[in-house]
Amino acid sequence: MRLDKLVSHGAGISRKEAADAIRSGRVLVDGQAVTRPETHCDEGSAITLDGNPIVTGNRYYMLNKPAGVICSTRDAKGPTVLDLLPVYLRRDLFPAGRLDKDTEGFVLLTNDGAFAHRMLSPKKKIGKTYRVTLDAPFSLETLQQAFAQPMDLGDGDITSPARLRLIEDGDRPVAELVIYEGRFHQVKRMFGRFGLKVIALKREAIGGLVLDPGLAPGQWKPLTQQDLAKIFSVSDD
Ligand code: URA
Repeated sequence: MRLDKLVSHGAGISRKEAADAIRSGRVLVDGQAVTRPETHCDEGSAITLDGNPIVTGNRYYMLNKPAGVICSTRDAKGPTVLDLLPVYLRRDLFPAGRLDKDTEGFVLLTNDGAFAHRMLSPKKKIGKTYRVTLDAPFSLETLQQAFAQPMDLGDGDITSPARLRLIEDGDRPVAELVIYEGRFHQVKRMFGRFGLKVIALKREAIGGLVLDPGLAPGQWKPLTQQDLAKIFSVSDD
């Protein structure tokens, strides 16, 4: 395929912008600057724009979402998760599953709708692991039993069984909760049924893929096929 077309598709910029970037030497093909937009390139070549790799097919990123950022593709009221990525990578990306504005942690951004559907489908039973800080102590046994069974969230929304364990005891206990679906405000509503308020919430893993501890809030990284396979490697039947 022509280099300008590959760069335009992969970076989400116009053909003219791609051609200008190529002519000015900002595009490397297998480490060498190629300055003619019409050059024919193999789709498997390693292409970079300003040092950033260009991926032409489906794309997948792990983002450590900070609190205060909205999990949608567009919002007039504030920054969205896409604003944390460089402009040339944003095109067609969306968050596969949403976190509340005040929730932190692992958001998977992709342009692959079928993958997102597979990952989010409750039928696939992919666990979403949350670290939850609560405003008051609670009976672990009572909550473990309640969460392990289908539970009415108060408006007829019934959860599927979830797993709870205590991580830190005290006045502001910290727990780990694994849920296998993604209902609106689900974690907050589950604890809310027992009069508990969630004061901090962070998603730490999706399936067997754990949020990279090297990613500070706001940072992101591309995911490999091995990473993606981990998502589906831990599921309870
Ligand atoms: N459950 C919630 O209540 N909020 C989130 O952001 C994610 C799960």
